[in-house]
Amino acid sequence: TVANMKGMKQGSLSLAVVTTAKYVIPRLLGPFCQRFPGIDVSLKVTNHERLLERLGNNKDDLYILSKPPTNTDISSYPFLENPLVVLAPSNHPLVNESNIPIERLAQEPFIMREPGSNTRRTVEKLFAEHDVSAQIRLELSSNEAIKQAIAGGLGISVLSLHTLALEGASNQIKILDVEHFPIMSHWYVINLSSKQLSVVAETFLDYLKNEGKEIADQSVVPLQKNMKDASKAA
Ligand code: PGA
Repeated sequence: TVANMKGMKQGSLSLAVVTTAKYVIPRLLGPFCQRFPGIDVSLKVTNHERLLERLGNNKDDLYILSKPPTNTDISSYPFLENPLVVLAPSNHPLVNESNIPIERLAQEPFIMREPGSNTRRTVEKLFAEHDVSAQIRLELSSNEAIKQAIAGGLGISVLSLHTLALEGASNQIKILDVEHFPIMSHWYVINLSSKQLSVVAETFLDYLKNEGKEIADQSVVPLQKNMKDASKAA
């Protein structure tokens, strides 16, 4: 139909994304909404566990997360790398060291995401594999609050590299070069197989698949340079 022609799509799109993806998805929505001004978007940002609840209750059209569920019938597509890095205040003594042994992290006060966070689960898994027992000083459910706490000298943490999207590794926070890091993962866009995607959701899915990486790389590539600088330091 005429309404489905490129540039004339109408309707609403409901997205739910994990907290780390909020640093990237709004940026991707900019060009998408310009191209399809008739599409209204709603974006929910929450942690992994809450997102799975939304999926279970069929609340949204598309979901973006790092660990697709295995017990639900879904279609999934990996569209972007999501490296997790160790972050410390810029005056931290480890900032200038390279290849820091992972065990060394046990001596530092650690700031951890809340239960239900997949960032937390991933960090706990890696620490358990290497017998590292982190000294958790503070638990926070916001990546932004964790960044502020790091800058404030409360401890170190592990967050998605994307949480640095706007400021890069600033003069307040630095990426530490620790062995077994970055933890490599991907974001997947998923949807319930049982739910027929709307034309609008299909359009956004195609957009993510075809153009997502290229647009997101505009902010990710400079960050990856920060990551390499961290491993070159000292
Ligand atoms: P989180 O999700 O907000 O639950 O930590 C991050 C992720 O799944 O990559």
